[in-house]
Amino acid sequence: MRRVGHISARLGRRLLNLITICAIALPAVLAGCGGDYPQSTIDPVTGDFGSSIQSLYRLVTIWTLVILAVVWGVLGYTLIRFRARPDRPEPTKTRGHLGLEIGWTLGAAVIVVLISIPTVQTVFRTQAAPGPDALVVEVIGRQWWWEFRYPAEGVVTANEMHLPVGRRVDLQLRSGDVIHSFWVPRLGGKRDLNPWVREPDAPGPKVNRLTFTVDEPGIYSGQCAEFCGPSHGLMGLRVIAEDEASFQDWVSGMQAPVSPDSGSLADQGREIFLRSTCIACHAIAGTSAQGAIGPNLTRLGARTTIGAGLLENTPENLAAWIRDPARFKPGVKMPGVAVGGGGLPPTGLTDEQLEAVVAYLASLR
Ligand code: CUA
Repeated sequence: MRRVGHISARLGRRLLNLITICAIALPAVLAGCGGDYPQSTIDPVTGDFGSSIQSLYRLVTIWTLVILAVVWGVLGYTLIRFRARPDRPEPTKTRGHLGLEIGWTLGAAVIVVLISIPTVQTVFRTQAAPGPDALVVEVIGRQWWWEFRYPAEGVVTANEMHLPVGRRVDLQLRSGDVIHSFWVPRLGGKRDLNPWVREPDAPGPKVNRLTFTVDEPGIYSGQCAEFCGPSHGLMGLRVIAEDEASFQDWVSGMQAPVSPDSGSLADQGREIFLRSTCIACHAIAGTSAQGAIGPNLTRLGARTTIGAGLLENTPENLAAWIRDPARFKPGVKMPGVAVGGGGLPPTGLTDEQLEAVVAYLASLR
């Protein structure tokens, strides 16, 4: 009897210590949740999608905290009220109390129902048809970059998706190789791009969808959220959300891209580019480069990053990337100047040729 009391007193002290430590540490842990994080999941900018999920998240968190408070309250009360004392007999024990059993079964069931009703509502709301005015963007995940096609506009780009603020967007997602997952946390939840799932009678793999409206202009970063090979962690993307007029300007620029002035270094780079193996994989609107294996490079100079969100888009980084892309992205199919890749031989560009090609690509704005 005494041994049992001794052990429970020590256990009780340890549990109380644990609760005290948790209570002290909680503000420090929660302080880490604030700040300016570009891929925050708790700061959505899509009212119809991200915010719906956010309010659900908040609801579940509140319920969890209520349960935590009740459990810790009962535990704390029990530890203090029934703690071992030399002069106190061991308290009576309760076994198989029907009322308690029914109580906590019903209580849990009620909480599950209260969470599941808004969950199902949110599922249906976020799966609603996008409507005829929605902007359709086909999102194709590839190892390890993103292709974005705007079929109605006749525009194709890579790694940086431009979207108009305030207009509903209908993303149609599929994969060009293995499973990827599209995730821009501030726009809302993630969605898989799965090449293996097929629907009966469908010509190709199932196309998954994401539908939302961006409320605030800004640049929102995201990344692939499904392991897809050695450079999965280097498969980033950016969403550039802008007002309708700016978006239309971007579309017009993509449809009628500028060419470099004749005789300039960029113009020389254009000649070199169009004679090289680059065009086996890359396309540039308005030129004879129509490769469809690698990222479309139309208006590459206007992008903020290169290599799927990997490097800032500067001439130095662009040159380093073209010289040896595998240095930055292991497993990349693009060949470098001296090293082949993806079954292609090295490009063999001289330093002068490389400089001219960089000047050309940077001029595509
Ligand atoms: Cu694509 Cu991970």
